[in-house]
Amino acid sequence: MTNSIICLNKGETMNIIKKSIFRTYQFFMKLIFPLLPYKDPIVYESLENATTILKDLDNVLIVTDKAILLNNLNIKLENILKENQIKFYYYDQVVANPTSKNVLEALEIYKKNNCHSLIALGGGSVIDTAKAVGAMHVKKNKTLRQLKGLLKVNKKIPTLIAIPTTAGTGSETTLASVVVDSETRYKYAINDFVLIPKYAILDASLTLSMPLMLLATTGMDALTHAIESYLNFSGNSKTDNDALEAIKLIFENIENSYDNVSFEAKRNMLYASFLAGKAFSRAYVGNVHALAHAIGGKYNLPHGYINAIILPIVLKEYGSKIYKKMFKIAKYCQMVTDNDSQSDAFDKIINKIITLNEKFNIQKNIDTILEKDFPSMAKKAYKEANPLYPVPVMFTINDFIKMYRKIKG
Ligand SMILES: [Fe+2]
Repeated sequence: MTNSIICLNKGETMNIIKKSIFRTYQFFMKLIFPLLPYKDPIVYESLENATTILKDLDNVLIVTDKAILLNNLNIKLENILKENQIKFYYYDQVVANPTSKNVLEALEIYKKNNCHSLIALGGGSVIDTAKAVGAMHVKKNKTLRQLKGLLKVNKKIPTLIAIPTTAGTGSETTLASVVVDSETRYKYAINDFVLIPKYAILDASLTLSMPLMLLATTGMDALTHAIESYLNFSGNSKTDNDALEAIKLIFENIENSYDNVSFEAKRNMLYASFLAGKAFSRAYVGNVHALAHAIGGKYNLPHGYINAIILPIVLKEYGSKIYKKMFKIAKYCQMVTDNDSQSDAFDKIINKIITLNEKFNIQKNIDTILEKDFPSMAKKAYKEANPLYPVPVMFTINDFIKMYRKIKG
């Protein structure tokens, strides 16, 4: 009895020490943040408006996927390039969770045709592939795997224009490219400021043919980016404003976009996704993403779908620790007034998320995840979250296991 008490105390002491070390790291990162060379992409609201930059290109590789071509989403871009006598080539084999094979095949076409710039036309997987092609082009003596981690590229990549066709990942404004090793299936990220696209063309007409489930889950992913980055303590007034505006736009437009009520709703969702991307690339995501990535890696479920389910569960777990910020979110979204209590605001936001999930036929739990996988997934989630994510409540490995039980339901 006495021994178990001593053990427990040792464990708790270890957790407290680890947490203080992680918090110190996060505080240090917050201090050096203003010195980091972030450069936002220059934004155009339509392909037509972006003609000024497109007409100056020369030998372009368009990185895309089969579904984009099947839905003719390349036609408007192609017409502008043709009208301006710009030579272009395609790589259209990008898959969901893009692979190193995708990157190397696209690079081959880029080199063979003496291309000078890249256009990524598609969702997050396509944009991530184009970023990695740019990185490999300037790091000729490196393998893709050797670029894994932070600031390994460190050299200006060719002009990269990102044209997102989904409203969710925010990859058009982030510094990360996530790829899967084709041989080992190991998933890793290349993170470098030089990978932030030079231009982002947010043309909502390209999102009109998005399947409804994709629209809903990518939108909920963007909402998760915005909420997690706002709740983190590394944000500044700029990231807070971007996150709040993204949350408001998503709450006001996601249902109308889903119901195809107006073009304006689609445009607002695309812009919200961009703002959320800007916010989380500086203020990070949090435990929802850490939990979701481990599930996604093991069970191959769509990222946005997992996030949508986990988001309200994690927010409830944070409870009163996030009341103050949840009130600020609710106030900004005009869901409460100063007369309402913080707990009312907290409930309203969580209920809103649950109501959206119900409308989109997203389940409350993921009952297919297996108890036997919880320890290994919890370790992965813990490793991802710590010390990087400046979350409002830090989870231990046991906390993550507890969360997986709640997610399973
Ligand atoms: Fe995400």
